[in-house]
Amino acid sequence: MNAILYRCYGSAEVLKLEQAAKPVPADDQLLVRVHASSVNPLDWHFMRGEPYIMRMQAGFGAPKDARMGVDFSGTVEQVGKSVTRFKVGDEVFGGASGAFGQYVTVRESRGVAKKPANVSHEQAAAVPIAAVTALQALRDQAKVSAGKKVLVNGASGGVGTYAVQLAKVLGANVTGVCSTRNVEMVASLGADRVYDYKNVDFVTKGDRYDVIIDTVGNRDLRDLQKVLEPGGTAVIIGGPSDGPWLGALKIPLKILFYKPFADGDFKFFLAQLNQQDLEYLASLMESGQMKSVIDKTYPLAEVPAAVAYQEEGHARGKVVIKVQ
Ligand SMILES: NC(=O)c1ccc[n+]([C@@H]2O[C@H](COP(=O)([O-])OP(=O)(O)OC[C@H]3O[C@@H](n4cnc5c(N)ncnc54)[C@H](OP(=O)(O)O)[C@@H]3O)[C@@H](O)[C@H]2O)c1
Repeated sequence: MNAILYRCYGSAEVLKLEQAAKPVPADDQLLVRVHASSVNPLDWHFMRGEPYIMRMQAGFGAPKDARMGVDFSGTVEQVGKSVTRFKVGDEVFGGASGAFGQYVTVRESRGVAKKPANVSHEQAAAVPIAAVTALQALRDQAKVSAGKKVLVNGASGGVGTYAVQLAKVLGANVTGVCSTRNVEMVASLGADRVYDYKNVDFVTKGDRYDVIIDTVGNRDLRDLQKVLEPGGTAVIIGGPSDGPWLGALKIPLKILFYKPFADGDFKFFLAQLNQQDLEYLASLMESGQMKSVIDKTYPLAEVPAAVAYQEEGHARGKVVIKVQ
């Protein structure tokens, strides 16, 4: 099969379209023919092997696993002996290693769910990491309920575009922060108010929020505190690279040191793909309550360009790969 592989860490030139062995599903796995995939910051972190601390798992001098990509949507082509919930021909989406390739294998109990028939593979492939992160941040970390005031910093990115929509599904009053060119798009996702960070500093506006979902991590925690209701929750999902050693893993350290001075809960967490959340997101896509905002679509051979574009940090929603 055709797949994007990488043999050393570096910039997008290390990603090569090669021939690879088609994976063979274990007894509890599905073999999925991938139709579409999508790019996340996680992909270029693996590509660069940064922050370095992740090389403890990914491989010290070179990647242990040459495959790239996680988010996929496709068709089940084969099932292992003990698989009961899926059958050949089912259209599914989820997360699995090697999604920038024509086939992936995934355990039936893990990050895979049926794709609604009225949703395209491109729409579904955009969802897994970004939308599950947004959902777990709002629902599990911040316990958002109807009527809560939620601020989404970075509302126009992969996680942010889903966070705005999911906060509305949860009944929140949503303020999005994005740049001028994305204001209309974020408003169209249901945000009650949008601040253009090029012209307005949300910290100086005098508004307060029960919950802050920060996908950018560009603000000092003291600034977030100024706009957080006493006892509110700020979930910082990501942050600037800030050097190759710790990267965004500096966030939990900053939180640790800030906690004694905080009036409220400041959190960092790592999202976990799981079937239940994917099924819930599938139901929202099916009913039209959530959609994927797709910025650009690239063919498989152009994954290096797609990952380089994503890495620039200004994608409008998601960057999608058309695999088949
Ligand atoms: N903790 C976890 O489990 C987890 C899971 C997924 C992702 N993450 C992290 O979360 C972060 C966001 O991921 P993502 O997929 O949403 O990334 P993304 O799609 O690359 O986000 C880019 C967006 O950020 C916006 N942005 C850039 N500077 C901004 C600023 N100063 N103020 C407001 N918005 C700004 C950009 O809008 P403009 O073009 O308008 O500037 C763009 O739309 C990354 O750091 C990622 O590593 C963490």
